[in-house]
Amino acid sequence: MRLHINIDHVATVRNARGTIYPDPVRAALVCLASGADGITAHLREDRRHIRDADVRALRAAVTTTFNLEMAATDEMVNIADEVHPDVVTFVPERREERTTEGGLDVLGMGNSLAACVNKVRAAKMRVSLFIAPDHVQIAAARDLQVEQIELHTGEYAHAFGRPNEGVERDKLQAAATFAASLGLLVVAGHGLTRDNVAAIAAMREIEELNIGHAVIADALMMSLTGAVMAMRTHIDGART
Ligand code: PXP
Repeated sequence: MRLHINIDHVATVRNARGTIYPDPVRAALVCLASGADGITAHLREDRRHIRDADVRALRAAVTTTFNLEMAATDEMVNIADEVHPDVVTFVPERREERTTEGGLDVLGMGNSLAACVNKVRAAKMRVSLFIAPDHVQIAAARDLQVEQIELHTGEYAHAFGRPNEGVERDKLQAAATFAASLGLLVVAGHGLTRDNVAAIAAMREIEELNIGHAVIADALMMSLTGAVMAMRTHIDGART
C-alpha cells in the first residue's frame, strides 16, 4: 500500500511566524527518504498554508508522485495545467472550514466539475475525486470517467472507539469494493492516525493512504523520519 504524506502543516508552522522555515520541500524529501511513496499538498483558495511557490518547488523536487489537492475552479485548474502534478485531487472547499469537511457532491456540481475534470485529464494528469463512501457519488465519479477516487475516512476517524465505528468501517469497505468493481483506482484519507489506520490499511481495494495531521503531530514528538516510519510500520503490519 502506498503512503502519501500531506505536508500542508509544515507550511502552517512556517506561515505562523512569517519565516522561510520549516520548508515544506525539505519536509517532503525527508518523508520520501523515510518510507513515504508520494507527497500530497492542498493549495487552498486563501493560501493559508501551501502557497503557489511551494507548489512549483514541490513539483520540481518530488520525483515520485506529487498529488495536488484543489477546489474545482478555473484558477486552480490553470495552476495545475502550469505545474503539472502527477495527480490532481478535487476537494470541496469552504473558507471558514478548518480542514476539508465532507466529500465532493459530484452529482450536484454537474457541469462545472465535469469541465475541470476534462481539462485536467486532457493535460494528461490523473484525476482523483475526494468523496464520501457513498455508492451514488462513486457511480457519478465513474460517469465523469475519472481514474481514481479518494474515499473520505473522516467519519470513520470520528467514530473510532465509539459504538458506530463498525458501521463507518463497513461503509468504507462496501464503497471500496463497489468502486473497484467499476474499475476505479481507490485511495483514502482524512483523520487517519497510527491508532485507527489498521482497519483501513487492511482493505485490499485501497491502494494508497493520504495522511497529514497525525504524522506532522507525531513528528513533533518523535522526528519527521520517526513519524513516517511509525505510520509505515502500522500500515504494513495491517496489510500482511
Ligand atoms: N485527503 C484529503 C483530500 C484532504 O483534504 C486531507 C486534509 O488536507 C487529507 C487527505 C489528510 O487528512 P489529515 O490531515 O486528517 O491526515
